Amino acid sequence: MELNSKINELINSGKDVINLTVGEPNYYEPSNAAHVAIEAINEHFTHYTSTPGILSLRQAIVKKLKEDNQLDFSADQIVVSNGGKQALYNTLAVLLNEGDEVLIPTPAWPSYASQVELLDGVPKEIPLSEDTGFKLTPDLLEKNCSPKTKLIILNSPSNPTGATYTSAEFKALVPIIEKHKLLVISDEIYEKLVYDMDYVSPLNVSQYIRENSILINGFSKAFGMTGWRIGYTAAPIEVSKKIAAFQSQTTANINSIAQKAAEVALANFEIQHVAELKRNRDILFKAIQEDTDMSLDDCPNGAFYLFPNIKGLIGKTYGGQEVHNSQDFCHILLKEAGIGITPGDVFDAPNNVRISYAKDLQTIKTVRDRLISFFEGEN
Ligand SMILES: Cc1ncc(COP(=O)(O)O)c(C=O)c1O
Repeated sequence: MELNSKINELINSGKDVINLTVGEPNYYEPSNAAHVAIEAINEHFTHYTSTPGILSLRQAIVKKLKEDNQLDFSADQIVVSNGGKQALYNTLAVLLNEGDEVLIPTPAWPSYASQVELLDGVPKEIPLSEDTGFKLTPDLLEKNCSPKTKLIILNSPSNPTGATYTSAEFKALVPIIEKHKLLVISDEIYEKLVYDMDYVSPLNVSQYIRENSILINGFSKAFGMTGWRIGYTAAPIEVSKKIAAFQSQTTANINSIAQKAAEVALANFEIQHVAELKRNRDILFKAIQEDTDMSLDDCPNGAFYLFPNIKGLIGKTYGGQEVHNSQDFCHILLKEAGIGITPGDVFDAPNNVRISYAKDLQTIKTVRDRLISFFEGEN
């Protein structure tokens, strides 16, 4: 937060700073979605809707899950929420009892642990290693299960690491998930942003997971619609009813206009975003590997983040300032190169930094050039 306000301060005072801390894309909603939203206002589609969302949107989500993910759901298994964030909170609120443990492979999106804590659950972080590409292994999962473990949160592609599981990697976890009768929350918000491989959901690899999972997805990342606040859960019917009841007493339906836009957006995913993000990833991955003191062995296959290790920088001096930890490095990089990135501490990974590459090509090239000159200046 401190670094972010410093970045914004610098930008507002006219400094040439490129902000790569943000977890949102540089593109916007499909243009026909915006058009339909304006029409919805003009036609006064501006009253309450049913809590879980208008039927046509839920049916469009059912169709998407069938066509994109080969998963069968019915419309009454879908609840449309204010972003993936509310979808996650709804889910945890209806599933968790006080003291229930929730497994969170880490580095992870910080909201997982914070939401579990808000609901009196116990977040149990499983530290992942760079050696396994920041992916959970069966051994590690087994070691962290206890009789109190109720749930595991899987997030592929991952924020912040970009790690994206293969079918085999998910399958290897199934016997342990089944043995401990875990419920699975599968956060699939970055599902459409996958490079050099096919996307696979954990729900695709086992009947047990399929029947014991709550799938979370949304429109923020794939469709550039972070401010519209549209997410959803696809869950077993009894869980879905509880989620709808919970949301009914907290926020009721999401914005009616956003629902109309979402329905249209879903049919108009702009595939060129994937090509552009992959291009950005390749440019910065190469630069990090070849021209910096950061290390990043595996090129992540999803989301729009790189998560290099900065241990090799500790004790070195850039622009006359010594790096003691990842926060120092982020401050020095901001000051000397005008690049804002996120210290890994935010994700319980103090040896790493997160670089968001969802920017236009010119900006990415400028970042590359600035990184190269910054690391040439080591002394
Ligand atoms: C892993 C992950 N899940 C869920 C979300 C929630 O996004 P939203 O609430 O905008 O749909 C985010 C946003 O940063 C995220 O990174």
